[in-house]
Amino acid sequence: MKRRDFIGIAGAGSAILFGSLFFSDLFGNKSTKPEINPDFNPDVEIDLTAYQREINIFSGKPTKVWSYTASLKKGPSNTIQTINNSYLGPIFRFKKGDKVRVIFYNSIPQETIVHWHGLHINELADGHPRFVIKEGEKFVYEFEVKNRAGTYWFHTHPHGKTGPQVYRGLAGLLIVNDEEEKALDLPNGEFDIPLVIQDRTFDRNNQLVYLSGGMMERMSGFLGEQILVNGHPDLKLDIENSVYRLRILNGSNSRIYKLAWEDGSPLVVIGTDGGLLDYPMEKEYVMLGPAERLDVWVDFSKYRVGDEITLKSLSFLGGNIMGRGGMMGMMGRGRRRNISDGEEIEILKFKIVENRKGEIKTLPDKLLNLNFNSVDEAININNPRRFVFEMNYMRPTINGRTFQMTKVAKDEIVKLNTVEVWELLNGSGGRGRMGGSMMQMPHPVHIHGLQFQVLERTSSTSGWDTIKDGFIDNGWKDTVLLMPGMRVKVLLKFEDYKGLFLYHCHNLEHEDLGMMRNYLIED
Ligand code: C2O
Ligand code: CU
Ligand code: CU
Repeated sequence: MKRRDFIGIAGAGSAILFGSLFFSDLFGNKSTKPEINPDFNPDVEIDLTAYQREINIFSGKPTKVWSYTASLKKGPSNTIQTINNSYLGPIFRFKKGDKVRVIFYNSIPQETIVHWHGLHINELADGHPRFVIKEGEKFVYEFEVKNRAGTYWFHTHPHGKTGPQVYRGLAGLLIVNDEEEKALDLPNGEFDIPLVIQDRTFDRNNQLVYLSGGMMERMSGFLGEQILVNGHPDLKLDIENSVYRLRILNGSNSRIYKLAWEDGSPLVVIGTDGGLLDYPMEKEYVMLGPAERLDVWVDFSKYRVGDEITLKSLSFLGGNIMGRGGMMGMMGRGRRRNISDGEEIEILKFKIVENRKGEIKTLPDKLLNLNFNSVDEAININNPRRFVFEMNYMRPTINGRTFQMTKVAKDEIVKLNTVEVWELLNGSGGRGRMGGSMMQMPHPVHIHGLQFQVLERTSSTSGWDTIKDGFIDNGWKDTVLLMPGMRVKVLLKFEDYKGLFLYHCHNLEHEDLGMMRNYLIED
């Protein structure tokens, strides 16, 4: 079946599935684009452009990519940091409380929009696909940074094209700092290393290859043939035998990592999606799904100059009976063999090249208060809102539905200033429709507009033993990895902003196929 046919069938399917449900269409097709508000006084002002360029990732031919580039109009000089020779966008550093204006220019030959992943932000600034702009147009973002210190990110979000656009390079990190975190005196400057892990496939002319494997590959999600960290293949970082903070983002379209140190040292986790934990934790390994972040403390002082330390992804059972990536691998589309889902791989190496000059920092016993909401506040504690993520007649769906640009169903409307429990399920436990249980695969579930807390995680996953110790459920999160058969309860508070926000699977191929819905926060 060709892609066009597949999309056609998906459309027909929707009509049948949606027939009996009540929907409200909130905005029609037209949306007014925000203008510069003269009363908004920004602390930071940035011009951001998405554009086409070429970079030298390998020797020989340069690679055609799409990138973000930014220039600072107002604000501290360290607000924008660029990663050398990388398709990745700049790293933005904001302070909690900053008022930020970003003027975004589209200079790629496709519709696009920027989403600030993880930020608690007003509706107009959230980068919903209904706000896409065409080549040559601009979009004005004005928002206040309300999140606690942590590692967030930004990426493109047009409906149906997020996968290919992120893949070509349209993503970057956004780091929020605040006074509370600063007081902990964690490693900073060159000792604070952002690491964006992605997988890509290149052809023999060094050009990116995306979804050449047809419908099956699209349905399970893109898996690349090689790992890039910060846009570099086989990255080896020269460091001192000192203490570092690693801010790790899984920026891959669909690949899941089981991160661990090769020498068996525990991973010392200090933070998750929404910033620092209350106490550091030691983990043998950590599962990191697409869009999830991990803040790691690492003390390299036991190593000597010349030593190399490898961060790996250990093998695990992905829980997909088709063995994602396995079949594609034999087809030899690119320069290398494909890496299957859950296959052991090297992520990057650290090489000790210098003895430390300063003192060794000590890991604080206590990090920061999480100030979690209490479950007792939830208005639906005994009756959680339920969302089932599953394949449905060969389409990835949420409660049987796919994305509709401006619509919400009745059960997707919540009230401002309330706390709710949501129950997220991967598969409906055998009662699924055709193509459900047969095609179970992981779904990294992301909710826009807020950070939530995980209350409970249960699983009937086969292969559970190979992943069960890798989840960190005691920090603020905006994305939670739902392995097949898994059920996760989360606690959310809808505050400050009403409006239409998204929740979706962050396997970008699933998202593009419509595993995304709106939810509406009403007054
Ligand atoms: Cu990372 Cu809807 O986004
Ligand atoms: Cu997001
Ligand atoms: Cu999914």
